[in-house]
Amino acid sequence: MPRVRLPITTERLVLRSLRPGDERDVLAYRSVPEVVRYIPGDPKTLEQVGDMVAHSGTAGLLDLRKSDMTLAVEHDGRVVGDVLLHLSGPDGPDDKQAEIGWVFAPDVAGQGYATEAAVALMKVAFDELGLHRVWAQLDGRNDASARLCERIGMQREALFVQGSWFKDEWTDLAIYAIRADQWRTNGSPTAPTPA
Ligand SMILES: CC(C)(COP(=O)(O)OP(=O)(O)OC[C@H]1O[C@@H](n2cnc3c(N)ncnc32)[C@H](O)[C@@H]1OP(=O)(O)O)[C@@H](O)C(=O)NCCC(=O)NCCS
Repeated sequence: MPRVRLPITTERLVLRSLRPGDERDVLAYRSVPEVVRYIPGDPKTLEQVGDMVAHSGTAGLLDLRKSDMTLAVEHDGRVVGDVLLHLSGPDGPDDKQAEIGWVFAPDVAGQGYATEAAVALMKVAFDELGLHRVWAQLDGRNDASARLCERIGMQREALFVQGSWFKDEWTDLAIYAIRADQWRTNGSPTAPTPA
């Protein structure tokens, strides 16, 4: 499996490894209850964010053989979110599939940063790593994340009604995905035209 050199730069963002000094930025959004409502785990403490930063170093390379491939998304010198690309299985055909994920600070919502970062990660997944399929799992109530999936060309493949025991309740689990052939046919999406 090839490695991807970091950072990945886009028009407005830099995707890079988390590093010491990022803790306060990450805590600012990862500690917010509404932000983690549809993602596993409780709001994070500074100590937990410190562990997250300490364990996600990639020495300038996106090493897809590691289980944790979280990248910081930096805008104007601040970490405004993080994105994840997680291969399904080590050294097998499943290596050609990856789960994608995203978490962003609420105060930067609605500006397309998550879309921009996700598209950059998709380009890496398909154009550089030659993956076959990228998928995402969502709480069925997570409308913002569903819109993001659709914006970047993913399609809803399944909805498991009350198929997930999540945060003390049965919840719907939606699966979104895009394959390499669809990505190549449709290309990367364009940003919406401002009204
Ligand atoms: C999911 C999440 C990342 C989506 O954030 P977001 O701000 O809606 O996404 P973007 O940054 O891509 O912004 C897109 C919005 O900005 C608008 N926008 C403005 N400028 C834009 C641009 N240049 N490009 C794309 N969209 C733009 C879009 O129209 C869209 O608005 P809409 O959803 O009302 O239609 C965010 O809600 C989040 O972090 N949630 C908490 C964590 C979570 O649940 N993660 C997902 C687990 S599955």
